[in-house]
Amino acid sequence: MELRGLRDDVYRRPLATALDRLGIGPGWTCVDVGAGGGDVTVALAEIVGHDGRVYAVDSDPLARDEVASAAAANSQVLAITQAGEDLRLPELVDLAFCRFLLMHVLDPSVVLARMASAVRPGGWVVAQEPITSAGRIAGLPFSMPDARHPDIGALLPALVRQAGLHIVDAWAEAPAGAGPGPVATYLEHLTEVDPGDDPVVLPPLVTVVAQVPSA
Ligand SMILES: C[S@@+](CC[C@H](N)C(=O)[O-])C[C@H]1O[C@@H](n2cnc3c(N)ncnc32)[C@H](O)[C@@H]1O
Repeated sequence: MELRGLRDDVYRRPLATALDRLGIGPGWTCVDVGAGGGDVTVALAEIVGHDGRVYAVDSDPLARDEVASAAAANSQVLAITQAGEDLRLPELVDLAFCRFLLMHVLDPSVVLARMASAVRPGGWVVAQEPITSAGRIAGLPFSMPDARHPDIGALLPALVRQAGLHIVDAWAEAPAGAGPGPVATYLEHLTEVDPGDDPVVLPPLVTVVAQVPSA
């Protein structure tokens, strides 16, 4: 699947694979929870087109401005300042998506339950979260002390199941590299440390593609 909106996003491959599983297309309605700067929001907007709608939800009001500017050409994007724990949309959507969100929230199961209840019967929930400590820089494990649940990816399939969703597919995938390139650039952006020629395996992203039971 072509994801022009993701540009040089190193985690674009697991996203493309997940969206392929859904058969997402023009006219779909989606919510990107914890949308941040809107990379995924824009990718979704380009897929659903002007007949679809993408709600970009984030608890940080600054994210709304960032998404608005990233999605300026996509009038189907509606940016909302709202916590995932309070997720409430004007309609049931076809897809609720989150990436690198549950690792930061107080209680991931509360947010997953809200995402599930935002989706129409038979619709989809896709969550992508890391196992931070499984990443490696020069053979040494990553750490992310600021995140509440840095290794939540390891629990993600169980959490999704506990939310009453039917898991259709789940896997883990990690970008890797050595020397200059997108992986080193991403790491430098994240940590402000240039890994030089050290080998890097970024934290594996666990993807869970799940379906809301039909009514
Ligand atoms: C690491 S960024 C991920 C951005 C985007 N999902 C991506 O993959 O590029 C995490 C985002 O989640 C937002 N966030 C954190 N806690 C939240 C919550 N409880 N409800 C909604 N958004 C939240 C932050 O403001 C931030 O924009």
